[in-house]
Amino acid sequence: MNVTGKTILLTGGAGGLGSEMAMLLAKNGAIVYLLDMDEAKGKSVEESIIAAKGKATFLKMDITRFEDWERIVAKILELEGHIDILVNNAGINIRKAIEEMSLEEWNTMMLVNVGSVFLGTKYVIPVMRNQHKGLILNTSSVCGLIGHRYTPEAYSATKGAVTILTKSIASRYAKDGIRCNSIHPSTVDTPLVQKMFADPVKKQQRLDEVPLGRLATSADVANAVLFLSCEESSFINGISLPVDGGVTCC
Ligand SMILES: NC(=O)c1ccc[n+]([C@@H]2O[C@H](COP(=O)([O-])OP(=O)(O)OC[C@H]3O[C@@H](n4cnc5c(N)ncnc54)[C@H](O)[C@@H]3O)[C@@H](O)[C@H]2O)c1
Repeated sequence: MNVTGKTILLTGGAGGLGSEMAMLLAKNGAIVYLLDMDEAKGKSVEESIIAAKGKATFLKMDITRFEDWERIVAKILELEGHIDILVNNAGINIRKAIEEMSLEEWNTMMLVNVGSVFLGTKYVIPVMRNQHKGLILNTSSVCGLIGHRYTPEAYSATKGAVTILTKSIASRYAKDGIRCNSIHPSTVDTPLVQKMFADPVKKQQRLDEVPLGRLATSADVANAVLFLSCEESSFINGISLPVDGGVTCC
């Protein structure tokens, strides 16, 4: 699976899943731009990739700000001359059920998890259309496919929106050579779930729901991203790929 020379923009590149994706994509020849607000972690991922002889650059941005997208997309285009893949991966989870959640918290979830996908897509589409080639990959979740009983409704609503946004982009922009797919991981032990995993009962619940009997790993998710990023998967468009050990088939 070869991604040599592909320019890849990856949001949440400093995070648990994003850093693993970045390292695997860079190991396979991609030029990876790590887009994240966490400068310390982002720089450290950049350094690890460069130490392993890969190509990566950390750029600090807030993915909910259109000014940041304008600046970052223009800068990368100037540096590389092309943008091959955008991975809209960053996301947050405010772990509150509907009755405990404020409207402000709901809006924050929507802005970070869905608004950022809208913005990133909006700013790369003109570039990809000019190239008549491009790929957008969105990190949704198993919660974007089912009504997951342990997950806050707001999180599931954002991830469900990403699932259908993906299919809508895929169907509209295929004529411009632009594809769009989403991946749907089950629970992975990353900073996103660390507080929740401090409760052993909750951790066991997540384990018990996986038919394959183990949690997903960051490597499982990164491997799916690598597959969808390479030329061998170039006829795949508009899919929702679960990486979940069978959680969504029960
Ligand atoms: N970990 C899981 O169990 C799991 C399962 C399914 C889906 N997901 C999804 O995978 C994606 C990555 O999750 P993760 O587990 O790596 O989380 P994480 O918390 O480890 O990383 C998320 C990253 O996003 C960045 N980020 C958040 N808001 C930002 C903003 N406004 N601007 C710029 N950067 C911002 C954070 O700084 C962080 O580096 C998310 O979309 C998440 O919903 C995670």
